[in-house]
Amino acid sequence: MVDLTASTQSDLAELAMAGNAKNGDVIVAEYQSSGRGRLDRTFEAPKGAALLFSLYLTPKRSASDWGFIAHLAALSMRDVFTQHLNGEAKLKWPNDILIDDKKVAGLIAQIAGTGIVVGIGLNVGMSSEELPVSTATSLAIAGSSQLDRNEILGQFLTLFASRYEEWDSGRDFTSDYSKASATLGKEVQIQVEGRENRSGLAQSISKTGALILADGFEVNVGDVVHLR
Ligand code: BTN
Repeated sequence: MVDLTASTQSDLAELAMAGNAKNGDVIVAEYQSSGRGRLDRTFEAPKGAALLFSLYLTPKRSASDWGFIAHLAALSMRDVFTQHLNGEAKLKWPNDILIDDKKVAGLIAQIAGTGIVVGIGLNVGMSSEELPVSTATSLAIAGSSQLDRNEILGQFLTLFASRYEEWDSGRDFTSDYSKASATLGKEVQIQVEGRENRSGLAQSISKTGALILADGFEVNVGDVVHLR
């Protein structure tokens, strides 16, 4: 646990690239001065109000399957806090967790060294005024009975570790993911920088984590807007 760092994601990726990280290493921070989101965006949270951490994994499975790991982490985090909510949390492809259609957590994943670094930022205690955008929410705003970041992290690591072991031994989690998805079954618009937007029905998720549209088009990277 560090009090302040630029980004737990950058820290762990640097250690991994230097050969100084091992499977299961975690870096947690109270505050990040340059928190990183997907696609070179920023991820901001006031000190002490969010659970911010990165986790290093060196899977046995082929690297072509690693795209599913962030989904497995999102599914596990969602299951950890859903039990403390009255409402339900859902997963928005690729890597957001939503409560009542608002983003409560974001995930990022990057290959580094011989493994992958998965970073999670979960809005825990933030008030409405402290949220970076109006489309975000926090566990406190959603009325969660669990706001202890250490406990949430502990529960996440336990649940994720057992699922990750099963996944790494070959188990398919696409059906578990699909049940928790807010994206599948919806008309969506796919936005990829430098490409024309594309719309379609989000039909399924692949074992590598890609979103498959009803016309067979496979989306590996990009943003999704839920249309209806
Ligand atoms: C996103 O919503 O685009 C992904 C956000 C990921 C944020 C987490 S916070 C802990 C870790 N360190 C970072 O710099 N980013 C991730």
